[in-house]
Amino acid sequence: MTMELRERRIGIEALAVQLPRSYLDLGVLARANGTDPAKYYFGLGGRRMAIPSADEDSVVLAVRAAGVLLADRAADVSSIGMVLVGTESGVDAAKPIASYVHRMAGLPSDCRVLDVQHACYGGTGALRLAAAWVLGGARPGRKALVIATDVARYDVGSPGEPTQGAAAVAMLVGEEPRVLELLPYPEAVHAAEVMDFWRPTYRSTALADGHYSMQCYLDALESCWRRFAGATGLGAGAFDYLLYHTPFPKMALKAHRRLCELSPDGPPAGGADADWERRVLPTLWANMEVGNAYSASLFVSLAGLLEHSEIDAAGARLGLFSYGSGSCAEFLAGRVGPDASAWRNRTGLRDALAGRRELTYEAYLRSRRSYEEQGRDGSFRAAAGGAGPAFCGTWNHQRIYRDAAWRSGTGWTSGEERTAEEASPFRAGHASRGAQAGS
Ligand code: CAA
Repeated sequence: MTMELRERRIGIEALAVQLPRSYLDLGVLARANGTDPAKYYFGLGGRRMAIPSADEDSVVLAVRAAGVLLADRAADVSSIGMVLVGTESGVDAAKPIASYVHRMAGLPSDCRVLDVQHACYGGTGALRLAAAWVLGGARPGRKALVIATDVARYDVGSPGEPTQGAAAVAMLVGEEPRVLELLPYPEAVHAAEVMDFWRPTYRSTALADGHYSMQCYLDALESCWRRFAGATGLGAGAFDYLLYHTPFPKMALKAHRRLCELSPDGPPAGGADADWERRVLPTLWANMEVGNAYSASLFVSLAGLLEHSEIDAAGARLGLFSYGSGSCAEFLAGRVGPDASAWRNRTGLRDALAGRRELTYEAYLRSRRSYEEQGRDGSFRAAAGGAGPAFCGTWNHQRIYRDAAWRSGTGWTSGEERTAEEASPFRAGHASRGAQAGS
């Protein structure tokens, strides 16, 4: 007997993924670190990890994902009444990423705009809050834009280094959930204050008590799953696919084994590992390419399932487990929309993967160094080459971003090199053009 709480439908109406332009193969990293590549490929289960360039940060990835979503005409921008960004890669201790997204995506001013932070749970938390806001009906007909965006960085040479990555997933939340309907079961959440993974505000890289963090993850899964199964009477067999927060793919296998052990409907036919290959592995191929994308990781799995070349997930029932270190976690259920195949080659995921370039180990180290330099005050340079949003550096303690409108306003051309003084957006004329871009 299952318990459902409401009749109105709610969930994800459209979804778009953006990735950094570069990646590092885990075999290249292993050889540079003097490690057996099999440890990273099979012990952790990854293949490659997305590495942002100096002009790509969590803001740029979020703006690009919002741009792909809105270009798909999934929504009229005037229908968006709230922007929630789930992230643990904030670029400012006060100003939210959502604020940059709001300006650069040209969203209306009667809009609530804020970030939601709880490590990798931030994206799921934002999705849940957005769904509740839409259902609450304070702004009838309005939709919410939710973006999970993160850059996972650990110290060079640390155990976490092969589990880096980055991505942004933008989701339109409303009452026509063509991508994923959130099923109205009682909430199954878990919170416990633990120091398993964290990033002090004075650091650009995260710290982790790695093996303890895996234990905390599995404890949280157990707690959420017991709550979910207890309240709904459902077992693991109720789902066509199970999606787990994926810091590295092997973690999803460990999680599935634990879930199967605890499931009221008993172990799956053929055992948990064979079942993982059937019901979990098809959701992980994109994670294996991207690495850990923290708050976006679960939604990279969702996009991977939608974009799977051999699976039509239409109508599939999904169990989703979201874990944020620190910690907060949730097990939730969803149903894929009836026209899932319409999302194949449409989320931006495949284009982003196809357009990436491989880095050498030396280029990876250089890109990390230049990212650090670009965060220092006075580092502003006009973005060289390319088009679309870019992080140009910091000037007068402000992070400066290029967007399409601003470029046309200044008349800069691709690849034009200027000194920080010449290119400063605070010179006479530039500031007003920058302001116009946001109006
Ligand atoms: N060939 C094949 N497999 C090998 C191997 C080889 N030559 N050498 C080792 N392995 C296997 C090990 O047996 C192990 O597999 P099992 O867990 O199945 O036994 C696996 O490779 C990893 O080996 P270690 O445990 O020795 O690896 P490690 O200690 O160097 O680092 C880690 C692993 C702790 C996960 C580290 O990468 C880390 O700290 N990562 C960051 C923290 C993290 O991702 N935590 C996950 C849970 S918290 C969370 O999910 C939130 C989040 O996103 C951060």
